[in-house]
Amino acid sequence: MDWFVRAFLKSSLVWFSLAVGLALAMAAFPLLTVYRAAHLHLALLGFVTQMIYGVALHVVPRFFGQPLLHSRMAEVQFWTAQAGLVLLTTGFVARVNGWPLAAGAVAVGGLASAVGAFCFVVNLWRTMDASPMRAVQARGGRPLATLPQADAH
Ligand code: HEM
Ligand code: HEM
Repeated sequence: MDWFVRAFLKSSLVWFSLAVGLALAMAAFPLLTVYRAAHLHLALLGFVTQMIYGVALHVVPRFFGQPLLHSRMAEVQFWTAQAGLVLLTTGFVARVNGWPLAAGAVAVGGLASAVGAFCFVVNLWRTMDASPMRAVQARGGRPLATLPQADAH
């Protein structure tokens, strides 16, 4: 398994813990719901998206019988996604408190998160297109995995 797959899965669990931690505080002290934007991005961009990144980078290339085309791009994706989340969510918290540089943190964090997301899209898309199964299908053949069970007899 590539290191970045495990790293995405573990980072997802860390973001989930932070999302739930903040959620509990918000549930107990309703005044803290001003931090809703931070909570929902910890949960949706942190827990859910990082989990999908990790699982998809491992599984999708295997579905297509084609190793991930750009490992280096997945490594860049990991670090930009984590840096982006740190900046974006602290920026959301800073904005509520009127701290300086809050808008800049949200903007730079958003940009880094978007770079990570686009790396993911390009890498998986190109990997699927490079799949040997695609060439088989283009010639009108069917990959073995799609043959009906009855053909085996
Ligand atoms: C222990 C678990 C959780 C608790 C206690 C919790 C609690 C809360 C609270 C108190 C709010 C603010 C509601 C308000 O503005 O009045 C909220 C908002 C939100 N939470 Fe959670 N949450 C939890 C887990 C999650 C998870 C796992 C997700 C997504 C994967 C999530 C997604 C959201 C979203 C999208 C909002 C914004 C809803 C809106 O804008 O109407 N939450 N949550
Ligand atoms: C590059 C990644 C992302 C960036 C830069 C980003 C940025 C933002 C920003 C700046 C807002 C406005 C927050 C406010 O002013 O209070 C917002 C709102 C929101 N985002 Fe994201 N977001 C990203 C990804 C996502 C993803 C992946 C999801 C869900 C799967 C999501 C769900 C939401 C929701 C539900 C709201 C509305 C919150 C509300 O009702 O106040 N975002 N996002």
